[in-house]
Amino acid sequence: MRIALGSDHAGFNLKSCIEKSLHGSSVITGDFGAKGPENPFDYPDAAFDVGSRVARKEYDLGILVCGTGIGMSIAANKIPGIRAALAYDEETGKLAREHNDANILTLGGRKTDCESGIRIVRAWLSAEFQGSRHSDRIRKISSFEERSPSTGNEPEGSPRLVTFDHPLIQHKIGIIRNKHTSVKVFRELVQEIAGLMVYETTRNLPLEPVTVETPITTTTVSSISGKKIAIVPILRAGLGMVDGMLQLIPNAKVGHIGIYRDPGTLEPHEYYCKLPGDIGERDIIIVDPMLATGGSAVAAIDLVKSKGGTKISLLSLIAAPEGVSRVQDKHPDVTIFTAALDSHLDDHGYIVPGLGDAGDRLFGTR
Ligand code: RB5
Repeated sequence: MRIALGSDHAGFNLKSCIEKSLHGSSVITGDFGAKGPENPFDYPDAAFDVGSRVARKEYDLGILVCGTGIGMSIAANKIPGIRAALAYDEETGKLAREHNDANILTLGGRKTDCESGIRIVRAWLSAEFQGSRHSDRIRKISSFEERSPSTGNEPEGSPRLVTFDHPLIQHKIGIIRNKHTSVKVFRELVQEIAGLMVYETTRNLPLEPVTVETPITTTTVSSISGKKIAIVPILRAGLGMVDGMLQLIPNAKVGHIGIYRDPGTLEPHEYYCKLPGDIGERDIIIVDPMLATGGSAVAAIDLVKSKGGTKISLLSLIAAPEGVSRVQDKHPDVTIFTAALDSHLDDHGYIVPGLGDAGDRLFGTR
């Protein structure tokens, strides 16, 4: 197990003593935050550093110590996917795991002595999440988190997952999930949803002032600056989203990436790649309706980066947590936009509940 430890100056001594107590066990530790107890170190910096590492699964768990444990807990809980719990005794340490599945434990270096701190950590580490009704409650927290609009101000380095709770998008997703929806309607709705999602994916495009003359006077308006956008569908299902996006961003250039999965190794292989020559200067949106295992998405991002692409986001209609984690692990700089985050993958790699094979449903090839 990998545990990231972090503290500010006030938590440094307790953190060091916990770190020593973990030596020699099967735990691999990482040390972040203050380098000593003397110089003031702001607890949010340590909390965001450790929290981001746990959120992107660089570490399995985190332990954060400040003076009271309160500041660390407030800051770490701002990171999507983090459940940081402040514990003052063994009982709360144990319950933080059993009921809350806390992936970060926070402690107060001015409130808890070394011996008690070690006992709390042991209680937390040896407890197991009890699931059942507690899972339902945690799912409520995660789905609230997923539905909340992203501020775009997440701590630097933390991977971003943006989901859409707009009623129009949710309504249309509901229709395309239905297996009785015709190919014609399915195709139209995929384009419409992709178009609606473009509003959010293009939210941070830079604007520049431009002078125009209205019939009345001269005024300054905003115009999108720079080289703008490249849409890169992953063949073939990604094609189903392109026209919907082009309706809103008609000047975008379109690249294409063909990737197939080797039936023997299940590894993705590129068979086609044609990208705009100035790809390095563009905001790139890789599109694929389904983010399932994440294998094709990771391969497509690898390919785009190898051709010079840097500003990349991934747009999918439906994503599985497995695919999101895989992309975030390999490419934490890529923002994932998805209209729905589903439950899991089944044994055949289909998203559950999902909508089946998007390519087959778009092109009627079942
Ligand atoms: C630092 O003096 C102290 O405010 C900090 O360690 C922590 O207790 C905040 O919650």
